[in-house]
Amino acid sequence: MKKLSILVAVLLCLLNAFSQSPAFENDVPVDAAMNVSDRLSIDLTAVDTPVLTSRNAMPYALVAGGSKGIGYGIAEALAKRKYNLILIARHPDSLLAAKNKLEAEYHVNVETLAKDLSLETSAGEIAKWCVEKDIPLKMLCNVAGYGGAMDYLSLPLDSLRYMVRLNVESCMSLCLTLLPLLEKNAPSYILNVASMAAFAPIPVKNLYSATKSAILFFSYSLSYQLAQKKISVSCLNPGPVFTKPEIIKDTKEKMGWFGMQMAISPKKVGEIAVRRTLKGRLVIVPGALAKITSIVLRALPRRLVVAVYDKVGRKK
Ligand SMILES: NC(=O)c1ccc[n+]([C@@H]2O[C@H](COP(=O)([O-])OP(=O)(O)OC[C@H]3O[C@@H](n4cnc5c(N)ncnc54)[C@H](OP(=O)(O)O)[C@@H]3O)[C@@H](O)[C@H]2O)c1
Repeated sequence: MKKLSILVAVLLCLLNAFSQSPAFENDVPVDAAMNVSDRLSIDLTAVDTPVLTSRNAMPYALVAGGSKGIGYGIAEALAKRKYNLILIARHPDSLLAAKNKLEAEYHVNVETLAKDLSLETSAGEIAKWCVEKDIPLKMLCNVAGYGGAMDYLSLPLDSLRYMVRLNVESCMSLCLTLLPLLEKNAPSYILNVASMAAFAPIPVKNLYSATKSAILFFSYSLSYQLAQKKISVSCLNPGPVFTKPEIIKDTKEKMGWFGMQMAISPKKVGEIAVRRTLKGRLVIVPGALAKITSIVLRALPRRLVVAVYDKVGRKK
């Protein structure tokens, strides 16, 4: 019986390891062709001069990385609940497209700011903009992140630094710089996006899993630090999310039926994330299979999990 339960646990672990692959490969939320210096050279200007309208009576949510993918799914779920929005991303064209779509469909006010969140100055600039406009900020969602098929010992140092700055530093900085506004508008919410990769060390994606577990740990502690201020902190940890066609293809090819059961659309992730954030849930894992896997991953000894991930990673 004991052997059987260990076998089941290892199997679940292995399945999850496979489930991470398409997510990771497509988990690169920046154009794969762009090198780091290209990414950092994008002009950092506001896309449109914010004209705050009468809709401002409603609270605002800021979605860092809200023009596409999971961030857009979160923005849509918030717009559905009549939140006005501030969307942050680097590319003005996709920001504008998201703004037009959300405003037309949900009749909310959407402001956009073109910023590279990996830059040290961005969090301060965003907070300054929000304070100057006296934005009634109720929710901060830190979504933008960078990952790839392989990272540490494969990527150059500037790409690794970019990953740490975007995945960890921008989240940490925005939480701090926007804290006064969130406090002013309490009860309020912080939603940080990590990943299933946060639950285990993954040798081939060493730095990605390390940055995502940093976000998970940061969120755990922050929820205690901010509880008295009536600011609720949540951490979203999805498995594969179909944000790009390649993810669907990879999931079908590598994981077959099981992968398709575990994967989830960005719209559904956004809806689950917002619903549970508003309920004050700390750790959010969308989907029943992903949730079971995350429980198993956390229960198993780290040494076993890392060994399994290493074996699976080497096979590829
Ligand atoms: N997709 C998955 O399977 C999956 C699974 C687990 C966790 N996640 C996590 O979920 C988050 C979103 O992933 P996704 O697949 O939805 O990505 P995505 O579809 O590529 O969207 C990423 C969003 O963030 C913005 N962004 C990226 N880099 C940025 C930067 N340096 N500065 C400002 N904005 C930036 C993008 O716009 P611009 O390109 O215009 O900047 C876009 O709005 C990430 O943190 C990722 O690690 C994803």
